[in-house]
Amino acid sequence: MSDDLFYNYILGSLTEGLMTVDRDFIITTFNPALEQILEISTSQVLGRPFIEVFPEKELEKAIHKNITTGQSFSFPEYYLPKRGKGLLLSSITISPLINGAGAILGSVILVKDLQVLKEIEESSWQADKLLSLKTLLAGLTHEIRNPLLGIRGAAQLLERELADPELKEYPQVIIKEVDRLNFLIANLTSLTYMRKPFLELVNIHEVLERVILLERQTPIGQKVQFSSEYDPSIPHIMADENLLRQVFINLIQNSLEAMPEGGEVRVRTKISSDYQLARINGLEHHISIIKIQIQDTGGGIPKDKVQYLFTPFFTTKPKGSGLGLAICQEIIWQHKGRLRIESVEGKGTTAIIFLPLRQ
Ligand SMILES: Nc1ncnc2c1ncn2[C@@H]1O[C@H](COP(=O)(O)OP(=O)(O)O)[C@@H](O)[C@H]1O
Ligand SMILES: [Mg+2]
Repeated sequence: MSDDLFYNYILGSLTEGLMTVDRDFIITTFNPALEQILEISTSQVLGRPFIEVFPEKELEKAIHKNITTGQSFSFPEYYLPKRGKGLLLSSITISPLINGAGAILGSVILVKDLQVLKEIEESSWQADKLLSLKTLLAGLTHEIRNPLLGIRGAAQLLERELADPELKEYPQVIIKEVDRLNFLIANLTSLTYMRKPFLELVNIHEVLERVILLERQTPIGQKVQFSSEYDPSIPHIMADENLLRQVFINLIQNSLEAMPEGGEVRVRTKISSDYQLARINGLEHHISIIKIQIQDTGGGIPKDKVQYLFTPFFTTKPKGSGLGLAICQEIIWQHKGRLRIESVEGKGTTAIIFLPLRQ
């Protein structure tokens, strides 16, 4: 293997972003992880001045000093601009790029994505908010269930008493609608009475494979091409297997429902090691993150709908419950993880699950 090829493999395998600049501040390396993190493609930045791509005076100053004096710099929390999409919370280190003779050729700039970790920290706060909502819902569903039973019973009696078939239609409508409400409430109950996860060591790849096997046999599943790419270095994780299976089933079913005429479902897993979690109680926490992606080639989700995806009862399907994603999110939160849906209208949707692996 040539040195160049080997060097490219290393750059491509890094889960952290890496770029180099030369002594004239021209960007000379930009690895795939960094492309992904900042949503900028390598071809757009190679050969261009750093300051033109990243108008960040503070970083430029640090790079300048790094190249002239050899001093390294570290920015534990830095908001880097993403292409056209706000800021990314990252940690940045700048070290001198030194050749065999000890001369400084430029700077090596390492960028770690801290966004996910921040979101995980915030999600525990959101989970608290959801808890009070759940208490309210639990009470409400209980109160609604009994009157519904009464209404249904009375409508059935009425239906029996009425002789005129045209009039019979009215109590039948009542019964049908009551059944619909009962169905909703049964679903809601599964959200509000969700049990605490029972944690044990789980092989997520096995769980995924079993779900895929199951979904393959459904009517739409038979028309869909499934593929999977698993990161073999992912260890067994502490999780509730049944709850995780429920998440995978919900997500894959959403994908299938988005592709009634067939398409592709791609399942991928990856581990990113050694993220540095912000200091908690004065201690630094290092954790790894497991990323599970379920990608489809369905119609995608219109931009104006994306904000409602996790809202209970939001559905665009005639027979949907609108609770699938709300339940998935709840389960992932219970695992101290994070669920994200990314979608491009007309191209497809990717559900991304982040699960922390505490060491
Ligand atoms: N993979 C997907 N592709 C397209 N739209 C999706 C996908 N997943 C979810 N959605 C949208 O989000 C809505 C809510 O999903 P969900 O909570 O599972 O409820 P339901 O599937 O019962 O409608 C769906 O009605 C659909 O509009
Ligand atoms: Mg669903």
